[in-house]
Amino acid sequence: MRIAIIGAGNVGGGLGAAFAAVGHDVAFGVRDPGSLKTAAALAAVPSAAAMSPSEAVEGADVVVFALRWSAVPSTVEGMPSLAGRVVIDAMNRLDGDPLRSTTQDLADLLPDARLAKAFNTIGFENYATARERAVPAAMFVAGDDPDAKRVAMDLAGQLGFAPEDAGGMANARALEMMVPVWFALAQAHGRGVGFAVSLG
Ligand SMILES: NC(=O)c1ccc[n+]([C@@H]2O[C@H](COP(=O)([O-])OP(=O)(O)OC[C@H]3O[C@@H](n4cnc5c(N)ncnc54)[C@H](OP(=O)(O)O)[C@@H]3O)[C@@H](O)[C@H]2O)c1
Repeated sequence: MRIAIIGAGNVGGGLGAAFAAVGHDVAFGVRDPGSLKTAAALAAVPSAAAMSPSEAVEGADVVVFALRWSAVPSTVEGMPSLAGRVVIDAMNRLDGDPLRSTTQDLADLLPDARLAKAFNTIGFENYATARERAVPAAMFVAGDDPDAKRVAMDLAGQLGFAPEDAGGMANARALEMMVPVWFALAQAHGRGVGFAVSLG
């Protein structure tokens, strides 16, 4: 699959390396292909290329948003329509309107995109190492589009996470609210900590 990752920071670079390691083609959509963060991401994924977000989404099967939330509106403004495309939101916005998720805001900015929230409830260092865990970490996926959710859950499973259907887009905000809990656990156990689901 060709995966466009918008943003090549910790999360974009980490997901890019993990997706490339399981055989996907990765293109980074960035504002500055020469930035230090982009250079680090490209060093970790030698097969990937960095280009403008508009160029990166061209022909991509999946578009992953991994920007600081504040950069999303201006980045989306110049991009072609993503209507009908699978878009995965890996972001968190831990300030601003406490009732809205970045996924709901993306839905407003990207009319008719097929959205799923995923990859936001664990530190970026864990994307490429998920399959090395004795107990798989859960990867919660929320959204209203069944196909987008299936794609996100498939990708999470390929990386070695245990995909968990976390319900509709209304639960995307709840997934963001898991992040302060993850930070508390990381303080106690280190950034390798991940959530898991016990089925009793
Ligand atoms: N860090 C984690 O472990 C983690 C885990 C899960 C989810 N998240 C969430 O994922 C998102 C990204 O986090 P991160 O840690 O990857 O952040 P980061 O390392 O700071 O990377 C942010 C990315 O956003 C770009 N960016 C920043 N300001 C921009 C602007 N004004 N216009 C265009 N691009 C801009 C940066 O590009 P430049 O290189 O050009 O600055 C970079 O590619 C956040 O919402 C975060 O909450 C983080």
